[in-house]
Amino acid sequence: MRYRPLSSKLYSKNRDLFVQALDRGGLAVFNSNDIYPISADSTLPFAQHRDIFYLSGIDQEESILLLFPDAQEPEHREILFIKKTSEIIAVWEGQKLTPKQATALSGIQTVCWLHEFEKLFQLLADQAEIFYFNTNEHYRAKVETQTREDRFIKWAKAKFPNHPTAKSNFILQKLRSIKDTEEISQIKNAIDITEKGFRRVLPFIKPGVWEFEIEAEFAHEFLKNRSDGFAYSPIIASGNNCNVLHYLDNNQQCKSGDLILMDVGAAYGNYASDMTRTVPVSGKFTPRQRAVYDAVLRVEKAAMQLLVPGVLIKEYHQEVGKIMTDELIQLGLLDLTMVKNQDPEKPAYKKYFMHGTSHHLGLDTHDYGLVDQPLKGNMVLTVEPGIYIPEEGFGVRIEDDVVIQEDGPPLNLMENVPKAPDEIEQLMHQR
Ligand code: GLY
Ligand code: MN
Ligand code: MN
Repeated sequence: MRYRPLSSKLYSKNRDLFVQALDRGGLAVFNSNDIYPISADSTLPFAQHRDIFYLSGIDQEESILLLFPDAQEPEHREILFIKKTSEIIAVWEGQKLTPKQATALSGIQTVCWLHEFEKLFQLLADQAEIFYFNTNEHYRAKVETQTREDRFIKWAKAKFPNHPTAKSNFILQKLRSIKDTEEISQIKNAIDITEKGFRRVLPFIKPGVWEFEIEAEFAHEFLKNRSDGFAYSPIIASGNNCNVLHYLDNNQQCKSGDLILMDVGAAYGNYASDMTRTVPVSGKFTPRQRAVYDAVLRVEKAAMQLLVPGVLIKEYHQEVGKIMTDELIQLGLLDLTMVKNQDPEKPAYKKYFMHGTSHHLGLDTHDYGLVDQPLKGNMVLTVEPGIYIPEEGFGVRIEDDVVIQEDGPPLNLMENVPKAPDEIEQLMHQR
């Protein structure tokens, strides 16, 4: 791994919090992700499943974590299984974790080889009263492949059909939504790299540059700073592409007079950052672009102030909708009659701002967090209002990442990423 790992203490704490939520006799298992095939012998790069990583810090394929706090033998309460390494494997595949290294990273004392899993699982299943399986329950999940976890669950259910089962994911959704200070500092590392990338592209952007050339500048800056790469597929959208919310082609030439919307974040140590900035290709906003930009900025600032403990995301989104509605009226995009006659289920502002304002951020870009859970201190969220006007050929989104504070408004982790339009224009002219 190229990143500096977090302490094993954090992972021990995460496991303690997790097992405290289990019913008596509960045994939980967590699998790594598969390495996904392309064709022939090509594969996608390995990306660790975020749950086993959260509970162990182990970033290696084919690892399994077993947690069983009521096991008869103390050494069976936490077991990590890793693929067996040897001198031959080291020659062909490179270094894999030794048991000693795995213990140092995770704080887990019992480390076994993967081929020992079935036998040990069967022994412990006899002592267990309930299995905790980790199905993907994220509100946005749409998974069409069978994961390693799915295969394990199928195997375990067939082998032990009489064991009752429960969901680990519900517990993890709650735990992972509240970040430890070590996690926040890792997110900040990712953000600092994103900031470097943004500062690099500002003087690089000019009429005639291609969207993919800007993407390449970000990639260069990210990788040379030990980032894992992009936290999600980057959106580098000029002109009317700004209005395609999930624009990923990044294959157009940027024209003078257009805006360019960049939704880009570096990942670091498996933690994501998520930034959007919108800048003028020529280095100067037109008066109309500037008016829309200022409106989005005001909405963003006002929205941030609303993110305090106790608030429900759904109510927050409704409040932001009202603030946005006022701005859209000022910009002449909505009028009072349209607003008066709007369907409350489909408010008028959605024509120009059709996505949510905030989501949790952490190990996943759209991180865990139960939708009906009120905000709490140390949750990390994005704030990302936008106004999209295809008929005028441009759109603006601004996105920062913030930490909820126990008292008062959140801390903006992207405070140092240029956002004020005058500063952006000035930085773009420092060519
Ligand atoms: N970049 C994904 C998002 O902003 O939600
Ligand atoms: Mn986002
Ligand atoms: Mn984003």
